[in-house]
Amino acid sequence: MTEPAAAPGPDPVESFVSVEDARTRLEAAGYLVDPAIETVVYLADRLRKPILVEGPAGVGKTELAKAVADARGAELVRLQCYEGLDEAKALYEWNYKKQLLRITHARGGDAEGGEAWDEVEDDLFGEDYLLERPLLRALRNPRDTVLLVDEVDKVDFEFEALLLEILSDFQVTIPELGTVTGDHHPFVILTSNNTRELSEALKRRCLYLYLDYPTVEREKQIVLSRVPEAPEQLADQLVRIVRSLRQLELKKPPSISETLDWARTLLELGFASVDEEVAKGTMNVLLKYQQDVEKATGHLKLPPRPEMN
Ligand SMILES: Nc1ncnc2c1ncn2[C@@H]1O[C@H](COP(=O)(O)OP(=O)(O)O)[C@@H](O)[C@H]1O
Ligand SMILES: [Mg+2]
Repeated sequence: MTEPAAAPGPDPVESFVSVEDARTRLEAAGYLVDPAIETVVYLADRLRKPILVEGPAGVGKTELAKAVADARGAELVRLQCYEGLDEAKALYEWNYKKQLLRITHARGGDAEGGEAWDEVEDDLFGEDYLLERPLLRALRNPRDTVLLVDEVDKVDFEFEALLLEILSDFQVTIPELGTVTGDHHPFVILTSNNTRELSEALKRRCLYLYLDYPTVEREKQIVLSRVPEAPEQLADQLVRIVRSLRQLELKKPPSISETLDWARTLLELGFASVDEEVAKGTMNVLLKYQQDVEKATGHLKLPPRPEMN
């Protein structure tokens, strides 16, 4: 007789073993780190604390969570926050349609007058009728999980409190099913665009990382890694121009995403460097408000296009 196969245990977790290890693995996942980033990622792993990443739009907050998941070989579970997000969409809800069908079937299925109600009721609040949403999925996932709670500043205080509770205990109680605790803690990353202040309690629970616009050198490296076809000279010129635009008081300063879009645009159009005409013609990739475009055009001092003869 053969032994029955052992039930598969939880997946191994590929923790970061040092700050250098975090750096190497994040960079292998295509994410360029700096000392603050690699340290906080390592510490979050060791201390089992969530990271709260704040900063302007387009500086790599969401991407960091994706890179951490990639670096760990973990599953990324994303909860995209929005105004009005509630427990049913974030945690779990019962599949009412399926429950209704079950009830209808139970009533009509048997000529003797249907099934016993107790039996039906047990079924109705079982696993088959549960709709798992991102938070529950992250808690119960047998795989190593990175939970991204993206743009948490968009939810209201009530929901923030629920989140806090889950992040404190890493368990939830579903009245009909009992308490759910996972095999391992998910690695949690919350991001915020800072549209409102988050509660002190939430901040206390997390390690804090502020991501700002990168230095010229770092942004150039990001451009070269994300748009490898870009010649170094072009990348250098681009990031310097973007940098100078960020120093103007613009309604929406260009972010890394826009720098990357600009690099791709210029390559697509076949430009190897930026002169005044090219900049004017492609400014709409970088800036999204007419008043910003006007301000920037007045500010840019680029060489005019050389005369052809
Ligand atoms: N450190 C980085 N390394 C590599 N790419 C980056 C980095 N930071 C930002 N990016 C690029 O910038 C883009 C925008 O980042 P994203 O995470 O969407 O911004 P945010 O969530 O802060 O608004 C990403 O798609 C990614 O290509
Ligand atoms: Mg984002």
